[in-house]
Amino acid sequence: MHVPSRASSSRSPDGAPSTTAEVRVSHGRYSRVRFARTPTPLEAMPNMTRLLGGPDLYVKRDDLTGLAFGGNKVRQLEYYFGDIVEKGADTVITTGATQSNHARVAAAMACRLGLDCEVQHERRTPGRDEAYYRSGNVLLLKLMGARLHDYPEGEDEHGADAALREIADRVRSEGGRPYVIPLAPTHPPLGALGYVDMVDELLEQARERGLGIDAIVTPTGSASTHGGILAGLRARGSGIPVYGICVRRRAEAQRERVLDRARAAAGLLGRRDLIGEDDIEVDDSWLGPGYGLPDDNLMEAIRLAAGREALIVDPVYSGKAFAGLVGLVRRGAFGGGENVVFVHTGGTPALFAYTGMFEDL
Ligand SMILES: Cc1ncc(COP(=O)(O)O)c(C=O)c1O
Repeated sequence: MHVPSRASSSRSPDGAPSTTAEVRVSHGRYSRVRFARTPTPLEAMPNMTRLLGGPDLYVKRDDLTGLAFGGNKVRQLEYYFGDIVEKGADTVITTGATQSNHARVAAAMACRLGLDCEVQHERRTPGRDEAYYRSGNVLLLKLMGARLHDYPEGEDEHGADAALREIADRVRSEGGRPYVIPLAPTHPPLGALGYVDMVDELLEQARERGLGIDAIVTPTGSASTHGGILAGLRARGSGIPVYGICVRRRAEAQRERVLDRARAAAGLLGRRDLIGEDDIEVDDSWLGPGYGLPDDNLMEAIRLAAGREALIVDPVYSGKAFAGLVGLVRRGAFGGGENVVFVHTGGTPALFAYTGMFEDL
């Protein structure tokens, strides 16, 4: 039997009964449910700037978007949940790696709106210890009431999406109204709109303090963040370069992915032609052995971020991107006096799934 949805007692993020009026419309046509605490702070990183020499380093604190440990997925999923509420679904179904932050935030939003949530975990990261399967985001998913499923592959996005559709069929057969948030890049990148919004916020913060931004550094995985930032910047007439640090796949494949997602994101704004091949900067020098797998650069980055700036970065995404920021500065990619903004996309709960890496501490 399908467990009756909690939607009948649904609540808005502020605790008021949920009505369609809470679904705010942005970018003219796309609905979203507001959860993120914005604007997130734009902070200087004086200790890292001094340590590395060269450019002035800043951090956009999207780890502080607020809902259930925050991170970039809050801005992104606001748009999916706009669609979910509009369509009247009562069960949200999605997929991700075992330590997926996307799944954690989807479960958090479903919980707040009184919807059921089913999460499929893919086996993407071999050789991890017990903490990886029990702690961090996995623990949080369970606490927030998500129902978990296992998917044996780690590199089959279309297969993972097909398995989601099977879960949706089951929910439907039990009388539920499922909504699948897919993974494969054959779908419009609704979540990228959250990073179009972030660009507006960042440019306004920079304007207020008279800061000229010379470069942005971000992790790049599904490329909703990277693609959204690029679409947002170019739509505002800004040519700021965006360096995507690969966390999921090698540079060649990621380049294609970002180009596709950035164009699709610009397409959602009605401006697909805004993005050219020259806009895409990706670097896989800090991917290490692969997705979710650590190396010495990552270990150094996690310790530098925490030890110098009290910034907590994670082993899968923001830590590798921070390693990329450090590596690019050491390589001389930016001039002295240039202003470089690191987008801290969060992911902090996953740190606790990797405690075995820090046994020397
Ligand atoms: C903490 C964190 N940072 C960065 C990313 C990568 O963002 P995107 O998937 O938009 O490329 C993810 C994706 O799961 C994430 O969880």
